[in-house]
Amino acid sequence: MNAQVTRRNFIGLIGMSGLGLALKGSAFAATRAVLSGAPLEASIEIDFTHPEGTIDNGIYGQFIEHLGRAINGGIFEEGSPLSDAKGIRKDVLEKIRGLQPSILRYPGGTFTKIYHWMDGVGPLAERRSRPNLIWGGVEDNRFGTDEAIAYARTLQADAYFAVNMGTGTAEEAGNWVEYCNGTQDTYYANLRRKNGHADPFKVKYWGIGNEEAAGPDIGRLQDVKEFVKEAWLYTKAIKLQDKDAKLILCGADDTWNEYVLKEMGAVCDYISMHHYVSSDKSKPASLFPQVDHMEKLILTLKGQIRTLTPEKVTDFSKWYRFPHRANPVKIAIDELGIWEPGGAGAYQLEEYYTWDHALGTATFYNIMLRQASVVGMATWAQTVNVLAPIMTSKTAAVCQTIYYPMQFYRQHAGNVSLKTQVVTPDLKMPGSKDAKALDVAVTLHDSDGSLVIFAVNRHPEQEVKADLRSIDSKKYTPAAIYELNATAIDAMNTLENPANNVVTSTEKKLSGNLSGYTFPAHSITAIRYKRNKQ
Ligand code: AHR
Repeated sequence: MNAQVTRRNFIGLIGMSGLGLALKGSAFAATRAVLSGAPLEASIEIDFTHPEGTIDNGIYGQFIEHLGRAINGGIFEEGSPLSDAKGIRKDVLEKIRGLQPSILRYPGGTFTKIYHWMDGVGPLAERRSRPNLIWGGVEDNRFGTDEAIAYARTLQADAYFAVNMGTGTAEEAGNWVEYCNGTQDTYYANLRRKNGHADPFKVKYWGIGNEEAAGPDIGRLQDVKEFVKEAWLYTKAIKLQDKDAKLILCGADDTWNEYVLKEMGAVCDYISMHHYVSSDKSKPASLFPQVDHMEKLILTLKGQIRTLTPEKVTDFSKWYRFPHRANPVKIAIDELGIWEPGGAGAYQLEEYYTWDHALGTATFYNIMLRQASVVGMATWAQTVNVLAPIMTSKTAAVCQTIYYPMQFYRQHAGNVSLKTQVVTPDLKMPGSKDAKALDVAVTLHDSDGSLVIFAVNRHPEQEVKADLRSIDSKKYTPAAIYELNATAIDAMNTLENPANNVVTSTEKKLSGNLSGYTFPAHSITAIRYKRNKQ
């Protein structure tokens, strides 16, 4: 009998009897310890004196692109019995709603490099179909700007549009801003009104370019000097239309980022970072060093931002005719995802994710919480069918394993990030390099002072017992433990059997002290403490 089978039976039992909610802390931990051998030892210490910073809600964003079945056949499927009169798949919308995305990035991705926004506005019967020159197939443009805005509004998310720097022009980008946000009696603002939208869309975020350094895409601006020259034009065209537009400038490697920050730091609200990871199939733990690497990339970029851009801009010529940025430069991780080779569909991007991918996803959120002072936004790449937490068929939609940690962090994280000292053993699994077993982030809800410790035990077999005695029991009382887990690290949800969810979600109320906690193998846990009244 192997450990996974034992564990599966154990979780099955809890699920059937509801014991997961009823077991007292010590009995709960002890039962698990018997199942997987002696736990590894760790400790968590929290620094309450120097918070890392405020956590921006923008980190819970999602990305949709005209790529394969991400939009057409994903969120939008006209004529489907599962869709509303406008073609919005209701089952999919419900699932995306469950993630409460704060931002919706659209329409790409690489697709932006050939996208003309005018193709996607106006009466549906008059919209132009064009070949999707980037991802293949035909783009009928029946889902365009107005539809993306309606979708974002339904989700209560801010829209983030990325403009075309490939076949497009700065003027075209400026016209798009006028269409969306214009309030005067002008051509494109009136076009929006004519299309049935009297009030401006107030699109807040505008991405200038996407992966412009990428060789094989279009290549027009691969040289950072050329990019910057052009990006200034786009900046002017956008900001002259809407002085409040927040700009995301396309990032790439260190040299590129340095030049962009030096030359455009005064107008750069965000510099973008894309981070995709994959693993060696025979060594699932090889995913984690790549996930962890994102923190190093963030720290390097943070160093560049701090050195090259002052918190406050001074000396900005009035002859620009629009204001400089108002806040310190932040990082927008506007494509973050897990990209394993060999999926189905267009460019093999339709992937099934197993539970180890969910552990990687949770670690990504821990990293963003830990680096809250500089990460201002993230949009998961992508949302439906393409590298996605949600998969669809003509008759069903299913939440993949990675969906659950996204939802979990959105639900439980506070708005202030605290620094921690974590002592944890190495993972020591094939391919895990120097990755640690336990990954931790700590947040505070400043509304009620409650504290949440997030811990991802990435070990596939071993529990990790963490010492929590450093948390002052006079100030904080343990209130609840929330846990996500799955039957095994290779467990996954499928469209073939959408009703079978391999992910278990348990909640346990606590009272009294908590000197330590044993995190089960391959688990994602949040421990919530109440702030005591003084
Ligand atoms: O998310 C898929 C693709 O990955 C995007 O279009 C592109 O920006 C990135 O390379």
